Order: sequence, then C-alpha cells, then structure tokens
Amino acid sequence: MNRNELCVAITGATGLLGRTILLEFIKRNISDLSRLKLIIFGRSTNDAALSDRIHHIILNQAPTYCKTDAEGQDKLRSFCNTNISFFDWDLNSPIDPMDERIRKIKHKRIHFFFHAAALTDLRNSPNAESKIFTSNYLGTKNMFSIISHLQVDEFNYISTAYASGSISGNVYPNQSSGNFRNPYERYKRTTELMTKDYCHNIGIKYRCLRPSIICGQLIEEPIGYTNKFDVFYATVAYLHKLKSKAKIPKNEYFTTSLRLRFGKNGSLNIVPVDYAAKIIYEICMNDHASESCHIVNPVNTNHTVCFKSTLSALKINGIKMVSKMPSNLNLSEKAYYKYVGKVFDPYVNCGPLYFSTENINDILIKSEIQCPRISCNNFLKLLNFARDMGFRNRRT
Ligand SMILES: NC(=O)c1ccc[n+]([C@@H]2O[C@H](COP(=O)([O-])OP(=O)(O)OC[C@H]3O[C@@H](n4cnc5c(N)ncnc54)[C@H](OP(=O)(O)O)[C@@H]3O)[C@@H](O)[C@H]2O)c1
Repeated sequence: MNRNELCVAITGATGLLGRTILLEFIKRNISDLSRLKLIIFGRSTNDAALSDRIHHIILNQAPTYCKTDAEGQDKLRSFCNTNISFFDWDLNSPIDPMDERIRKIKHKRIHFFFHAAALTDLRNSPNAESKIFTSNYLGTKNMFSIISHLQVDEFNYISTAYASGSISGNVYPNQSSGNFRNPYERYKRTTELMTKDYCHNIGIKYRCLRPSIICGQLIEEPIGYTNKFDVFYATVAYLHKLKSKAKIPKNEYFTTSLRLRFGKNGSLNIVPVDYAAKIIYEICMNDHASESCHIVNPVNTNHTVCFKSTLSALKINGIKMVSKMPSNLNLSEKAYYKYVGKVFDPYVNCGPLYFSTENINDILIKSEIQCPRISCNNFLKLLNFARDMGFRNRRT
C-alpha cells in the first residue's frame, strides 16, 4: 500500500489493545511521523483531559516500544502537538449529527477506523448485561451516527474469538454457535453482525478482528507490560492476595488448601498484546482480503503450564487442580468460586478450542513475526511484571 498520508481513527486508545495498536502505527512510521495523522475518540477522566491521557501514553510508552533515541523523543513530542485530533466523547451518549466536533473532522479521509472501545465484563448478571448492552452494543450504534458523516475507507471492529460462543474443536473466524457463556460474548456477536450490515449498506470496507485472551507484551519492552490484570491474571491475583493476607514474605513458601477446577487436558489461547497489534497492522496495511480474522496464538497453552508457573512464581503449596467441582468448600475456596471462578470457570472447563488462522496464513508467513508461545518461561515473565505492579489496574 503506497500512500503519502495515513489517517487512523481509533476508539479505546486508552485501553490495552487500543494503545498498543496506536504504538504499533507510531513505531512503523517513526522515520516519517509527519505522514501519520490520528483521530482519537475517547473520554476524559476527572483527573485528566483525553488529550493528556493520550499524550501520557505516547510520551511514556512510545520511546521504549519504538526504541527511539533523544531525537526520536523530540519528534514524538511534536507529533503529539500537531498530528492528533481529539473527539472527547463517551460511547454511551448519543451524538447530535450537528455536533461541532463532527463538522471539524467531516472532510478528513480516514484510511483505517479501529473500534476497540468496549467493556470486557465476563460476568453473567443482569447488571453486567445492562452495562454491556449500553456500552458495547448501543455504544457501537452511537458510533455509526458519527461514522455516517465521515469519509472512512475501512472499519475494523475489534470483537473476540469467544464470539464463537460455546463450541469445541476447530473454530473459523466468522463462526458462532449461538450459545454464549455470558452477555459479553452474546453482544460481541450481535455487534459483529450489526456492524457488518451497517458497513455493507453504506459502502465501507468492514473487517472483524477477533483476538483470543490478551496478555502483556512479550516482544517489545517492557516485557510483560499490561495496564490491567483481568481474565487469567485474576486467578493469579487471588492467590497472590491470599498469600499477602497471610503475611508470608514474598520469598518464603505459603501453604494453603485450595482445589481449583480446571478441565482435564484443557488449554487456553493467550495472545501477547504486541503480537496482536503487529498482526492487525499487517492485515490492514496489506489490504488483506479476509473479512473476519482470528488474532490468536498459533499454539494453545495447557492449563498445567499456567498452573505450575503460577505456583512456583508465587511460592505457594497445597493447591490442587481438580476436574470436578469440589464439595465441602473451605472459606478460601468459597471466595475463589464466588469472585474469580464464577467468571473464569466456563473458559477453563470447556472442550479445547482451536481458533483457525487458515485464511490469514499468507500474511502470517510473509510478516515473519513470530508469536511468543506462552511457555512456562514466558508465563513467568508475565507474572513477574504483574507482581511488580501489585496486580493493580492502572487507568491512564
Ligand atoms: N482483554 C482481552 O483479553 C480481550 C480479548 C478479546 C477481545 N478483546 C476486545 O478488545 C478490545 C480492547 O480490549 P482491551 O482489553 O484492550 O480493553 P480495556 O483495556 O478494558 O480498555 C477498554 C477501552 O474502552 C474504552 N471505553 C470503555 N467504555 C467506554 C465508553 N463508554 N466510552 C468511551 N470509551 C469507553 C476505555 O476507555 P477509558 O480508559 O476511558 O475507560 C478503554 O479505552 C475490546 O473490544 C475487547 O472486547 C479483549
């Protein structure tokens, strides 16, 4: 693809995947940043304006992610001041078509629009469902009322590999069983279909990108980096908290009694966020023909790998992996199943899932980007970073 200016719009750029896509676009264009224009759709917090949040991410993370020298850092500063437009907006609020902010960007040609903003709440409760419906489904609909006024070439909807629902064996990237573990999966699927229809109707190229479970960076420095510790990190955080509560020093062993239900011979597909962003970049910039793409690790990680690494990293004894729900739960087990297991259990107690990347194999090979396997060693790197950060989510 040969173009002088590259204009990228993005929602969710303050989140984990969104910011990494942003950093990847900056990294790949670092030698001529003047050609890259960004439009950021996001919200301010009580403490920081949207522009400050994004400047903070770029000025703090990009130098390491892009391996820049002092001159590169000056370039990043001037890039922040001149090449980014901000659209301060909460997805949950419908937007007036006459809004002044739309008028300002109306005539801009946007080559790639990434819609990465969403709530990742895997709970199965009416409260979670209502929030997911508003942010992920209605929020995307609200997004359309802005898009219809812009000149967008390609709309990339960030979905999830689990929009396939409960299913086992080989899964293709546009497949769905229609039987979902929670409202998050259900609304991701509904939103995929709604977005596809919308884009086809107004003549915008549509792409659906389906990442599996996203973990911290394993290619770019700082290794292990993530700004939040949810999904599989939550189980590790729970064990870490148990040990901290017992006031056992970090370097000493803690013995507890906990039976955690994990499907026998089961596995998870965990994809490093920097690998995900690089593959997304390749797919888009090479104008790949596939409309739906899995953004996944080519190799699943067996539960025993995560389990053994966790126990050795945290120095904990007395935790057993069991294949059936245990009876007579002790207090720690009750708390685990109430807060962590409830969300995580359907993902670790299902048949093996193999997310197919057959349709993008050409680009995976051509890009020569190796996906780091989630081996014991790499899992330990992720956990060490998480432990150093105290498993605390950080909202920039
Ligand atoms: N994490 C995973 O394991 C995973 C796996 C597969 C797919 N995905 C999908 O990948 C995408 C990115 O996930 P992530 O884990 O990077 O998300 P994340 O770190 O939780 O960040 C979510 C982003 O969405 C924004 N957002 C949420 N609600 C919003 C609203 N009402 N208005 C404006 N912005 C809003 C957040 O803004 P604030 O910073 O202002 O809150 C943040 O930028 C999501 O679509 C998610 O469903 C994630």
